[in-house]
Amino acid sequence: MDIEQLLAARAEMVDMEISSILLDVKPPELGAAVAYAIASKGKRIRPALVTLAAEAVGGKADNASFAAASIELIHSSSLVLDDVIDKSDKRRGRETIHKKWGTDLALLTVQILAALSLKIAARDPRLMRIIADSLFYMGEGEAMELVDYVNDRKSYLDLAFRKTGCLFGSAAEVGSIVGGGDEEQVESLRKCGNHIGIAFQVRDDILDCVSRENDLGKPVRKDLFMGRPSIVVIDALNSGISLKTMMKCNNGELMQLVGESIGRAEELAASEIELAKSHLGNLDNSFAKSRLEALGDFIISRAK
Ligand code: IPE
Ligand code: IPE
Ligand code: MG
Ligand code: MG
Repeated sequence: MDIEQLLAARAEMVDMEISSILLDVKPPELGAAVAYAIASKGKRIRPALVTLAAEAVGGKADNASFAAASIELIHSSSLVLDDVIDKSDKRRGRETIHKKWGTDLALLTVQILAALSLKIAARDPRLMRIIADSLFYMGEGEAMELVDYVNDRKSYLDLAFRKTGCLFGSAAEVGSIVGGGDEEQVESLRKCGNHIGIAFQVRDDILDCVSRENDLGKPVRKDLFMGRPSIVVIDALNSGISLKTMMKCNNGELMQLVGESIGRAEELAASEIELAKSHLGNLDNSFAKSRLEALGDFIISRAK
């Protein structure tokens, strides 16, 4: 089974779990915004990581699907919030919640999605602290983007861990806990997930520079124009290319101008995936382990 087929199968599993949530949200305006957020589906990469981590320690994907749904809902809530902060008008190919319903209802949608995630996670109390840690770090990560703090590779890696790596680590952690992994396995999978997540963010930053909006389903060159610390922009600035020069470029010209920075970002993503794989060393070989490795490779080569 190739990785895209596997992602589709795992997406179906988590979709079933999420659609079984009883949605009784009042008032109907908020209910509509929450239903819209739940109905718009992304790549479902984190659920695949949850269920593969469960299988990698000998558990069943089915038994981990509630944990996958909980993680995906935290992710979805973070996207609604991120779009408010980034003033973004498109997500997953559709108009963003704050554009359709305004900022107030968007923020309340964030709260409801997080609450739904916690309700599901509470089926296994061991998940609660892990989800809380992710929410905490993601909050810090979003805030770090807004202050003049991230301007070199070291602080970028810290940011990428907080805003993205941490939730990927939590995905692998909850999967391995539900799958019955021992302490050492859980710790290894969490670290593996953290590095996969950092690589995922690096690839997201690259795609922001090189893709088209219709392919990504969200606006492009947003990092540059919103002054967000993407690794490509940071590297280009540190190579002496000014923001002004970058901003004058059209898509093709920008790719040309920051080509070397893109190359270095690709190397960084690849090295994060190597680190991720190194943490799988003490797990027995299995189909799930090989798919985790394939997931890492997919993440740094994906076009959307
Ligand atoms: C986007 O995540 C936010 C980042 C962490 C870069 P995804 O690219 O996984 O978003 P969806 O779920 O597929 O829409
Ligand atoms: C956001 O990173 C990560 C989150 C925690 C939501 P980005 O700001 O790069 O995500 P996109 O590009 O808007 O999806
Ligand atoms: Mg954003
Ligand atoms: Mg981005």
